[in-house]
Amino acid sequence: MAGFEEKPQNIISDFKKLDFDYVPEKLVHRDGPMNKIFSVLKSAVESNTNQRMVITGLVGTGKSSLSKRFCLDFQDWVKEKGQRMEFAIVNCRSRNTPSSVMLRILERFQPGFPDRGFSTAEMLEILRKHLVKDGIHLVIVLDEINVLIKKSGSDLLYSLSRFDEERVTGSKHSLSVILISQQPVNEFLDAATLSTLKRTNQIKLDKYSTDELKDIVSQRVELAFFPGTVDDELMHFIADISSEFGDARFAIELLENAGRIANEEGLEEVQPDHVRAAKAMTYSVVTESKLISLGEQKQYALLGIARIMKNKSFVTTGEAEKAYALVSEEYENQPRAHTQFWEYLQILGDQGLIGLGQSGKGMVGKTSLISLPDIPSKILEEKLLEVLGKAP
Ligand SMILES: Nc1ncnc2c1ncn2[C@@H]1O[C@H](COP(=O)(O)OP(=O)(O)OP(=O)(O)O)[C@@H](O)[C@H]1O
Ligand SMILES: [Mg+2]
Repeated sequence: MAGFEEKPQNIISDFKKLDFDYVPEKLVHRDGPMNKIFSVLKSAVESNTNQRMVITGLVGTGKSSLSKRFCLDFQDWVKEKGQRMEFAIVNCRSRNTPSSVMLRILERFQPGFPDRGFSTAEMLEILRKHLVKDGIHLVIVLDEINVLIKKSGSDLLYSLSRFDEERVTGSKHSLSVILISQQPVNEFLDAATLSTLKRTNQIKLDKYSTDELKDIVSQRVELAFFPGTVDDELMHFIADISSEFGDARFAIELLENAGRIANEEGLEEVQPDHVRAAKAMTYSVVTESKLISLGEQKQYALLGIARIMKNKSFVTTGEAEKAYALVSEEYENQPRAHTQFWEYLQILGDQGLIGLGQSGKGMVGKTSLISLPDIPSKILEEKLLEVLGKAP
């Protein structure tokens, strides 16, 4: 065969174990939250009652992996006790209407369930029949629940929370729900729905520390790299860079890309410069030329946003405007008026430099929420200061 030249792979032994949807047998440094979920759902299964949990935490803190690992392990545990537990994990970014969520859940019990012709209420009843018939404890994980709420409101959550009210005593089935979101739930749920979650068990996953990230990286090296290709100091270097964001996904991505670069160079060991090159690669979406072409006012607007995004997943447009005023004052820029600022936000949104979404029901007015999808705030801030000629 002509044309293709394939470099032999001497660094990475198993790419699949670096995939984002691969969940390791054991999650490093998450025993605490894992045991908390276990203790709550164990009691649900033992007493045939329903439970609700909320897991929040910033990007890459392990929310999705934790819920998946838990479901897999818990299923085994329940089985050993001679009972039956099933789970359905739904990503509400791709399934953002009640019927598409319900469809996903029903497909687990009835493969090929028709995708139209049934109302959500009817689908809930069909689900109930399945659970009753086989005495199943169902755990539904609604990942990125904020997207579903923003798109479709909280009707489905409400129905699910009332699901067990029609139980006949003595029946063996139950339905528990785990909600996952980066954003704290009180920022996007209306008061009525929040009050149904009042006694819900909440778990907040903290950002990973350098040492924790080092252990996460070290686990991946063991799983996916040939022996002797990544030394201890390099793992520490990767952890150190990633600790700015405490984001495990970022650390694993750095590791993988550094490994690819080292292999491209025909080397048998990953070196610090491969990590540096990998880091530069990760943010190439926000190019300098894109930032330069914004012009000064929008650069300041974005700088303000980057500054206040450091510990937040989302900010309101009001907060962003204040931040714009603050950086303008700091760098002696004359800020533009309110309506102009709104236009800037739209443009930044169109260019993919910020995410713009409507706030949840029950929040004041129609504030938009701003997020930074593709770049850590600190890197963005550094790049902007450079472009503005204000770098220290
Ligand atoms: N404690 C951990 N041990 C090992 N790997 C981890 C751990 N936490 C996260 N990871 C890995 O980091 C990556 C990101 O984790 P995950 O997708 O669970 O984060 P998340 O909190 O759901 O992020 P997002 O908010 O972006 O959805 C995955 O590849 C996951 O396997
Ligand atoms: Mg996730």
